[in-house]
Amino acid sequence: MGLTKILSDEHRVIEVVLDCLDKITEEANSVGKLNEESAVQAIDVIRTFADKCHHGKEENHLFATLVKKGMPQEGGPVGQMLVEHEQGRAFVKGMADSVVEAAAGNADALSKFTQNAHGYVQLLRAHIQKEDGVLFPMADKVLNEEDQKELMKAFEVVESDHMGAGTHEKYIGIVVSLAKQYRVETSHISSHSCGCGH
Ligand SMILES: [Fe+2]
Ligand SMILES: [Fe+2]
Repeated sequence: MGLTKILSDEHRVIEVVLDCLDKITEEANSVGKLNEESAVQAIDVIRTFADKCHHGKEENHLFATLVKKGMPQEGGPVGQMLVEHEQGRAFVKGMADSVVEAAAGNADALSKFTQNAHGYVQLLRAHIQKEDGVLFPMADKVLNEEDQKELMKAFEVVESDHMGAGTHEKYIGIVVSLAKQYRVETSHISSHSCGCGH
């Protein structure tokens, strides 16, 4: 499997979480309080699968290699993606900080959760489109076979050493069950969504 295909497949998983997050906030605003368990699960998937693992592969490996190959660290498409990862972290912190009170029915906390969730969903949907549509096709042209091999190895290390064997699959399981609960379509999740590339 191609290198950027691994990351694009992970985008399909992240998009399901974004759809779930929309449904979680919709439900919360109609009943006046947040479902704490679902919100905590969604935030955990975002922090671990999307940020630590997926953004980790992008920032520490793919983007770093693209910069080494001459793409600018700041100002260009790589710089823009890094800025958006940071903006995403701020939205996730806003959600996490308001979960407990929003689940208790505090209107201000629920509004804070909703605003941050909407901000995150909008940001990430557009971010994923830019990576799939612009940055990854650029990377496919810039990276030679040797670069691809090295990055593939680095991705495997992220999965096995940094995340722990089975973690990727565990999180896909959480996403699928959350999607079932909120009637979110999961057909775009690839059966090869294991980031190890086997
Ligand atoms: Fe990204
Ligand atoms: Fe990405």
